[in-house]
Amino acid sequence: MGKFNLLLKNLKICSVGAGYVGVPTMAVFADYCPDVEFNVVDINKEKIDKWNSDDLSKLPIYEPGLDDIINKVRGKNLFFSTEIENNIRKSQIIFISVNTPSVVTGKFENSSDLSNFKKCAEFIAKCSESDKIIVEKSTVPVKSADILKKIFKTIKPDLKFQILSNPEFLAEGSAIDNLRFPDRVLIGSDKDTSSIFARDLLVNVYKNWIPKQKIITTNLYSSELSKLVSNAFLAQRISSINSISALCEVTGADISEIAKAVGADSRIGGKYLKSSIGFGGSCLKKDLLNLIYLSNYYGLKEVADYWLGVLKINQFQSKRFINKILKCFNGNVNNKHINILGWAFKQNTDDSRDSPSIAIAAHLITKGAILNIHDVKVSKFNIISDLSSFWKNKGFCSEKVSEFLDRITFKKTNDIDTFNNSSAIVILTEWKEYKVLNFNKIYAVMSKPSFIFDGRKILNKSKLKSIGYKCFEIGKN
Ligand code: NAD
Ligand code: UGA
Repeated sequence: MGKFNLLLKNLKICSVGAGYVGVPTMAVFADYCPDVEFNVVDINKEKIDKWNSDDLSKLPIYEPGLDDIINKVRGKNLFFSTEIENNIRKSQIIFISVNTPSVVTGKFENSSDLSNFKKCAEFIAKCSESDKIIVEKSTVPVKSADILKKIFKTIKPDLKFQILSNPEFLAEGSAIDNLRFPDRVLIGSDKDTSSIFARDLLVNVYKNWIPKQKIITTNLYSSELSKLVSNAFLAQRISSINSISALCEVTGADISEIAKAVGADSRIGGKYLKSSIGFGGSCLKKDLLNLIYLSNYYGLKEVADYWLGVLKINQFQSKRFINKILKCFNGNVNNKHINILGWAFKQNTDDSRDSPSIAIAAHLITKGAILNIHDVKVSKFNIISDLSSFWKNKGFCSEKVSEFLDRITFKKTNDIDTFNNSSAIVILTEWKEYKVLNFNKIYAVMSKPSFIFDGRKILNKSKLKSIGYKCFEIGKN
C-alpha cells in the first residue's frame, strides 16, 4: 500500500475528451485525489475556453453539482487545456474519453465509429516519450483493446503501453452522485505482471473513495462487453415496460400499477420500469446497435434479432405517442397551435442527443402544426440544430427546412400568453418545473377542447380533468 501511495503522490493523469464523461469523471477524481494532477484536454478550443470560464454558468454542459466541484478543484489539481501533446507527455495514465457514435451509412452502418478513438490513440502513441497506462473510458466494441495494442506497437515499438478497460456507467443528470457512489467500478486488464501492476495502480486511485468490494476486475474483453450489455439490459427493461403500456391502453390496466406490482418482486426490482415516450440519449440506442452489429458479425443472428426487438419497441412507443396525438385531432393538426414542453432526453440535463422530442416535434410540424417549444436547459440554438439535422437526414431541402422552422416559437412557460389559442400541451421531458404550471390559468387561454398529452406521466390527471382538459397518459386507458 505504501508503494502505491508514493506512486499516487507523483501521478499525473490526462483525459482526452472534455465532454459529458471526460469532465465529470476527472472532476470527481480530482476532488477525491488531491495529490494527483488531472488534465482534461480536447481538440475543441471553444469548449476548453468555456471549461476555463470564470463564470460557472458558462460551462459547456449542464450537470447538477458539477459547477461546485469545478469551482473547488479547477486550477488546483484539475486543469483544462488544448495542449494535448504536452499533457500526454507528462502523464503516466491517459484516459481516452472521446465520443464513439454509431456509423450512420455504408457497409459498417450501426457499428461503432472508432475514428476519434483511433486518432486519439495514434496521437498519444506519436507524442509519448515514456511508458504509459492507457485507459479505455469511451464505450467501445469488445476487442477494441486489441486495436489499441496494435496502434501502440506499430507507432512506438520501444515503449510499453499497458491497456486497461474502465467503462463509465454514469447517467447524465445524476453523474456526480453516480461517480461518487457507483454501484461498481469495472477494470479490465491482461493478466501479465505489468498489466496487473497498471490495473492495481488504477484500483488504488479509485480506492480513495470507493470501497474495495465495489471494484470489479476482469479480463479486457469482459470489461468492454459488460458496458454494452449493461446499457442493453437497461434499454430492454424500458422496452419491456413500454410494450406492456400499449396493452394497458387497450385493456384498462394501468402501467404504473403494473410497474409497482412487478417491480416489488426483489428478483425483478423496481428501477427502469418507468413507461415513457421511449428511451433517448446518446448511448442506449448506439450501444444496442453496436451489440446487434457485433452479434451479426459473429454469426449470431438470433442474438442480434433478440436485441433488435428492444429497439423496435422503442420506435413503436414513440410512433404510438404521435399517432395518439393525431387521432385526437382526427388526423388533422394543420395550423393547430401545440405547446411542446421538454426537449432534453431526460430531466436535469441540457443534452438532447437522440431525444424522442425531436422526432415527435418534427412529425407534428410536417403535418402542419404550429409549435411553441420550451425546455428548461436546452438552448433554442440546439433545438433548431436538432430539427434541421433531423429533416435534412430525411431528405428535405433547405427551403423546406426553413419553412418548417418558421412554424416554431420559443416562448417561456411562465408567460400565460405562450398558451394563447393552443389546442394541446405535450409533455416530453419530466422537468419538475412543468408540474407546477398554473393549469387553471393556462386552460382559460387555450382553445377548446384543450388536450394534454403527458408522455412522462408527471401530471395529476384527475385534477386536470376537473379543470376541463382532455388528457392522454401513456399506459392508461
Ligand atoms: P462528448 O461528445 O460529450 O465528448 C467527447 C469529446 O471528445 C468532445 O469534446 C470532442 O471534441 C472530443 N474529441 C473527439 N476526438 C478527439 C481527439 N481525437 N482528441 C481530443 N479530443 C477529441 O461525448 P461523451 O458523452 O462524453 O461520451 C464519450 C464516451 O463515453 C462515448 O464513448 C460514450 O459512449 C461514453 N459514455 C457516455 C456517457 C454519457 O452519459 N454521455 C456515459 C457513459 C459512457
Ligand atoms: C445511460 C445509462 O443509464 C448509464 O448507466 C450509461 O453510463 C449511459 O447510458 C451511457 O452509457 O451513456 P443516460 O443515457 O444518461 O444513461 O440516461 P438514463 O437515465 O439511462 O435514461 C436513458 C433514457 O431512458 C432517457 O430518455 C430516459 O427518460 C429513459 N428512461 C429511463 C425511461 O423511459 N424509463 C426509465 O425507467 C428510465
